[in-house]
Amino acid sequence: MSSLTDIRHGIEFAHPDRVVLTLAVEPPQAKAEFDFDVAVVGLGYVGLPTAIAYADSGARVLGLEISPRRLETILDRRADVLERDQLKLDRALSGNNLALTNDKSELSSARAVIVCVPTPVDDFLVPDLAILRAACAAVVEAATAGQILMLTSTTYVGCTNDLLVQPLSQRGFVVGRDIFVAFSAERIDPGNASFEQRDVPRVVGGATLECEEEADRLLHLYAANVHHVGSLAAAEMTKLLENTFRAVNIALANEFADICSSLDIDINTVIDAAATKPYGFMAFRPGPGVGGHCIPCDPHYLLWQLRRSRVDAPLIEVAMTAIAHRPRHVVERVRDVLSGRGQGLATAKVLLVGIAYKPNVADLRESPALEILSELRSHGATVGYLDNHFDVVTLSDGHVLQNVTQPALFAADLIIMHTTHESVDLDWITTHQLVIDATYDRVSYPTAVTL
Ligand SMILES: NC(=O)c1ccc[n+]([C@@H]2O[C@H](COP(=O)([O-])OP(=O)(O)OC[C@H]3O[C@@H](n4cnc5c(N)ncnc54)[C@H](O)[C@@H]3O)[C@@H](O)[C@H]2O)c1
Repeated sequence: MSSLTDIRHGIEFAHPDRVVLTLAVEPPQAKAEFDFDVAVVGLGYVGLPTAIAYADSGARVLGLEISPRRLETILDRRADVLERDQLKLDRALSGNNLALTNDKSELSSARAVIVCVPTPVDDFLVPDLAILRAACAAVVEAATAGQILMLTSTTYVGCTNDLLVQPLSQRGFVVGRDIFVAFSAERIDPGNASFEQRDVPRVVGGATLECEEEADRLLHLYAANVHHVGSLAAAEMTKLLENTFRAVNIALANEFADICSSLDIDINTVIDAAATKPYGFMAFRPGPGVGGHCIPCDPHYLLWQLRRSRVDAPLIEVAMTAIAHRPRHVVERVRDVLSGRGQGLATAKVLLVGIAYKPNVADLRESPALEILSELRSHGATVGYLDNHFDVVTLSDGHVLQNVTQPALFAADLIIMHTTHESVDLDWITTHQLVIDATYDRVSYPTAVTL
């Protein structure tokens, strides 16, 4: 792990991010005292656990959230967080070290501001930066000398410079002297109780060495290990590598699953065997596609940026295309399996079990289930889903589905296992029902087939 000392002797001035912009203006006076130690902008799947972790470390935290509904959900203790985080949240709210607001001007009362808002892609897979731009503009507007501003949303390389460093300089701040700017992507895995945020190392890059030192102190409030990379760009690129690595490997696992299926070999036997090698292999599992806010989106931030400079990344392009096609592969498999029984899609009743994009979370964003349901419907199938995390779901064509609470009565011709939540009851599945196990997680039924 590199340290600040390594950076001092090595790469600190090697990147253009490190150029300190000086303007002939009086330096703004740093505030002597701030009401809050940390403000978190955006209290979603990532921002809320971050705010909780800081509050739990003893910091005085301000949570800025623009959605009144989200604020209400948090205050009503209905937010989808781990049980242990719910307890910490209760403590923080009642102990007064977590205050919630929708007033962006209050950001000036926090010593550190952490931006954690969504960075989605649009229907054409082009990064949609509107939310991040608005959040950063609010941070710059409220910026006060002495603050450390840290971007944690996944984004393109150069974004922290474009949306924070440059606008701050235009406001007359000398970044690295009057105010500090850094990038450190969140690595949280929402819904995963196996890791405490404290135990997951953070990667950080600052606009200057001073910025990186300030960010180091901020991160150490709740993270045990902080890894320094010496520039904003390297920190931004690290996150893109992490998630592109996962995307490419998931695409490879899917391809291997199809290859194994064609040769009548069990893919999990093969992956488990390969995973006995103690080095050079990391197990990725196949599935019905990828969802959530990271894998289907983040690599497109990189590809979008590369197109501008005409740099090719064919491997990533192919992986992302394969991932995008996976839900249709599920539908094709449904068609094949049904036609093996002499039935067409147009007369079939199909039930999806688990529609969240991964087990044990109430998160539907980019879930392959939505595309599978829509696609099946477009071929005339009658569709339903079983997932107690969602009472009602609206498909892209506006069609509204309700959770099938009595799956036995739905009388599906075919069941697709899409996501296996721990709490789900599957006893109603009978031996003569057709089951496609798109999870590959060895839920075994006498009739189950894989994709
Ligand atoms: N979800 C994940 O698994 C995950 C993991 C690691 C990193 N990330 C990254 O973290 C970032 C945030 O993702 P998320 O999943 O928490 O998003 P989210 O949609 O769950 O939450 C974002 C929240 O920000 C709020 N918001 C938007 N604009 C705002 C503004 N100007 N001021 C205040 N609040 C505002 C929204 O109302 C929302 O509640 C993304 O860049 C994502 O790539 C996500």
